[in-house]
Amino acid sequence: MTVVTDRASLATARAALTGTVALVPTMGALHEGHLSLVRSAKAAGADHVIVSIFVNPLQFAPGEDFETYPRDLDADVTALRSEGVSLVFAPTREVMYPHRVRVTVSPGPVAGILEGASRPGFFDGVLTVVTKLFHLTTPDIAVFGEKDYQQLTLIRQLVTDLDFGIDIVGAPTVRDADGLAKSSRNAYLSTPQRELALTLSRALHAGAADTVDPLGAASTVISDAGDAVELDYLELTSPDLGEPVAGDQARLLVAATVGSTRLIDNIAVTLSPEFTAHSSPRVHS
Ligand code: PAJ
Repeated sequence: MTVVTDRASLATARAALTGTVALVPTMGALHEGHLSLVRSAKAAGADHVIVSIFVNPLQFAPGEDFETYPRDLDADVTALRSEGVSLVFAPTREVMYPHRVRVTVSPGPVAGILEGASRPGFFDGVLTVVTKLFHLTTPDIAVFGEKDYQQLTLIRQLVTDLDFGIDIVGAPTVRDADGLAKSSRNAYLSTPQRELALTLSRALHAGAADTVDPLGAASTVISDAGDAVELDYLELTSPDLGEPVAGDQARLLVAATVGSTRLIDNIAVTLSPEFTAHSSPRVHS
């Protein structure tokens, strides 16, 4: 496994990789969820997997956790070596953004809802860095987690609308045994906060189990948790996030803050014919 931090070394190492190449973009502090993406890349036919590790300042707003975001490159490299990754690209901010950023990617309407409504500019930052990583690593395949479902949706739109010619693979959310979705930000949670954080996955599973009123079932679980789980949004949408719910497939998405840690999660929902879109209103805080 080669670890590179500058563009010239990346270009040389990339040129040496033959066959089908997959990219797994990450911000590091790797956990089982990230490592599962490497396995998904191989299952999708990759001969070589490149993992990028870069905490992207462009997707953090002032006051968010850019400075304190967990970073542990040595542990990340060790974990990736045992997954059979070919190349790790871990650039500095200066390598990724050698100039003042002028041109960014405009992510379109899906970036205005859910996470985008709470974090203006977030998806501009994500799509801009992902575009740069695609150009720098020229992959055939790129793998993203369903954990960040809106991000995955927007990256599919990016490669389709801007003709990147890269296959986007979505990988299922990896959870702890009790249901909590694995996240680098879980490291911020104290033991009692981690217990409260379980409310999100419990609510989603209750929602998915109620095929007539998933939003009502999920919202009851969140209300029962009390004020310590500060709900940002709980919404039921079409699987592509662009339309009202129609047909029997939907996505239930939640964001909430526990202590000062913002958590997100989502789940696929199959609706019964008795479902009506107005059986319970959209729930916001
Ligand atoms: P990061 O939060 O590090 O996540 C990197 C990838 O891992 C994303 O595709 C994310 O969806 C996936 N992932 C995170 N937790 C997961 C879990 N529990 N199960 C499955 N996959 C999981 O997402 C980003 O970084 C950044 O926005 C990035 C795309 C790298 C651009 O900066």
